[in-house]
Amino acid sequence: MAYAAFRSIGAYIPSKILSNEELSKMVDTSDEWITKRTGIKERHIAASDEFTSDMGAKAAKLALQRSGIDKSKIDMIICATISPDYFCMPSTATIISTKLGLKNITAFDISAACTGFVYILSIAKAFIEAGMKKNVLIIGAEKLSAITDYSDRGTCILFGDGAGAAVISATDNKEEAIIDIHTGADGSFADLLMTPNGGSGSAHDSLEQEASSCFMQMKGNETFKIAVKTLTKDVIEILSDNNIQSSDIKHFVPHQANLRIIKAVGDALKLKDEQIVLTVEKYGNTSGASIPMAINDIYESGKLHAGELMLLDAFGGGLTWGSALVPFSPLK
Ligand code: COA
Repeated sequence: MAYAAFRSIGAYIPSKILSNEELSKMVDTSDEWITKRTGIKERHIAASDEFTSDMGAKAAKLALQRSGIDKSKIDMIICATISPDYFCMPSTATIISTKLGLKNITAFDISAACTGFVYILSIAKAFIEAGMKKNVLIIGAEKLSAITDYSDRGTCILFGDGAGAAVISATDNKEEAIIDIHTGADGSFADLLMTPNGGSGSAHDSLEQEASSCFMQMKGNETFKIAVKTLTKDVIEILSDNNIQSSDIKHFVPHQANLRIIKAVGDALKLKDEQIVLTVEKYGNTSGASIPMAINDIYESGKLHAGELMLLDAFGGGLTWGSALVPFSPLK
């Protein structure tokens, strides 16, 4: 049986920074409020001519280069995004495949909001274990600034842009393999986080309504409470299902939505500060891109080594959630 190994990581972070101070000139908020309630100090914003696929392709190139696997060996690209280049087609994954110079491969997007990266990791694992694919490029890429309402202080303080990518490959060596992935969803909470207009579920009287149609809306406080409860239950379950102690986790890499959510889950698992990967302060919430961007951060700062066990954990619109136990397994 083939197993799936997490071979490499890459990310792209746009250069423009939007600070809390700048946001407080745009809406009624303050650096103090944002920092205290979310842990976010700044977020990066893509240029107007920089698309989700541009960021995804840059992250993917880096992940490919670091994997040591020739790009001609990639047989599938999956992109997790809620801010695709185009609504509804072509998929961002197909555009990325062209930007990478890849043809005749399987390419598609999935929509699982902030849980997107855990979902695409599980799809890559399943395809590889089924023997259908050998080298899968997974990409979380978001230009959330394109779907953020910068007059809504309840959401615009949270989100940023960026992309992260990983190469997942077949291996015979179980020691290198992704151990387990949990994914879940509950559509009865769909209204907590949504882009209510612009799709077939919304009625449009006029074209003018569509200009702001894709902005995100969120019931922040309710989302917060369910996030803490769901994430805590999910990580406890995945550890116990696999007979792994929280002290065995070298890097806890949660979705970077809110420092208080991350701390609450970390406390429930009795994790030490050095086990918890935090990037929320500098990138904010980049939805499907946040986990691979965070993994890239520890990789680039020399903290991620071969064989070390990561616990990934995410929660997002849908509602969706997921967790994964992933050893970092670069090719020697
Ligand atoms: N600046 C200043 N005040 C703000 C504000 C801002 N940016 N946003 C909201 N407020 C105000 C509210 O209007 C409210 O005022 P009131 O008491 O006078 O009515 C007060 O702050 C409390 O609002 P509330 O929404 O209860 O705050 P909160 O502590 O829940 O923090 C969030 C708001 C959005 C930071 C928090 O709910 C959160 O992070 N939720 C989860 C979001 C998330 O993770 N989403 C993505 C999931 S992947």
